[in-house]
Amino acid sequence: MANRIRVGIVGCGEVAQIIHVPALKELRDLFDITALCDVSRSVLGQVGASCPGADLFEDYCKLIAAPTVDAVLVANPDAYHAEVVIAAIKGGKHVLLEKPIAVTLAEADAMLAAEAAAATAVQVGYMRRYAPAFLEAVATAAKVRSEIVLARVHDVIGPNATIIDNTSNIFRANDLSAEFLAEGKRALRAKIGEAIGVASGSRAVAYALLLSLSSHALSAMRELLGGMPKGVLYAAQRHGGRFLSAAFDYGHFVAQFEAGVDRIPHFDAHLEVYTPAEIIRVDYDTPYVRHLPARMTTIAAETAAGVAVRSMFPTRNDSFVAEWRAFHGHITRGTRPKTTLADARNDLVLARDMAAKMD
Ligand SMILES: NC(=O)c1ccc[n+]([C@@H]2O[C@H](COP(=O)([O-])OP(=O)(O)OC[C@H]3O[C@@H](n4cnc5c(N)ncnc54)[C@H](O)[C@@H]3O)[C@@H](O)[C@H]2O)c1
Repeated sequence: MANRIRVGIVGCGEVAQIIHVPALKELRDLFDITALCDVSRSVLGQVGASCPGADLFEDYCKLIAAPTVDAVLVANPDAYHAEVVIAAIKGGKHVLLEKPIAVTLAEADAMLAAEAAAATAVQVGYMRRYAPAFLEAVATAAKVRSEIVLARVHDVIGPNATIIDNTSNIFRANDLSAEFLAEGKRALRAKIGEAIGVASGSRAVAYALLLSLSSHALSAMRELLGGMPKGVLYAAQRHGGRFLSAAFDYGHFVAQFEAGVDRIPHFDAHLEVYTPAEIIRVDYDTPYVRHLPARMTTIAAETAAGVAVRSMFPTRNDSFVAEWRAFHGHITRGTRPKTTLADARNDLVLARDMAAKMD
């Protein structure tokens, strides 16, 4: 089929199994999964069985070198993103990179340097920014940007396992040594230490949460509010770094930020923009259940004494499917994604600046 992009997946864990493999199979007129890579042979074999014809690799360098791969999905642990992305770009492959792009700014800059010397498409997987309701909210907010008086960014969710274990049946590695798993944790801690100066304790936990959960919200906030804030007014962590508060200075208004992980099996993620005449809100549901659409709600005066509430989603289309469609378009048309490495680097800067203000 013309323009069908052959995808190799590096990291076949939760997000690949629940989200990306089904999305790519749904988009079979645009993509073909031709290769899989995981350090776990058991995961590789089991996910491989659901992708007949795909070549299986334990070493990502071999997947990148495969002539049957046009584009690489990087979905391995965060501490190893940069090395895979750089190798893929140097190998002439297009890249869809899961968030966060990396743990440190040095890694981000090394990826940017590789990207600058190449002609491939590199897109960051901030799927919330591809949700049709979010695009509608961005267009609505852009018309009233100078009138904004307040904004809110809220992400309080339960443990992912409480949703995943109830709705999916994941193949998990049972063949990785304790030493290998410990090395993965050590590598992440070392990179967090490099990024914010401390490798453990509450601030390190907070920084990890900013990267894993809040990078989505920070990224969406920047697009919805028209760019980076002038600075972080305050940032605090409590409960061992598991609950975070902050405020961003946007000049004529302040954006309040809240994030945390509780014990309720729920997903409460939303952004709000307030003007004196209208409230614009976007709500997201868990990414681990497919086709739960993001919703936009507007609240405005209806009459002198009344209120009109409009809640909408233009389509039930999964935001990951929208993200993959956009990636396909950038590869085939040679256009640049909005969620570039340079764009996503801003979220590492914000996370670092927030962590610096946390005690
Ligand atoms: N966009 C989203 O909403 C979303 C949701 C979840 C996770 N993610 C991101 O996706 C990535 C993967 O997360 P996950 O939850 O699937 O993690 P996971 O731990 O479930 O899966 C990671 C997989 O990578 C494998 N792996 C580890 N090191 C590897 C290496 N060097 N080469 C190849 N494979 C390797 C592991 O064996 C495992 O199977 C992370 O960056 C995470 O932040 C994004």
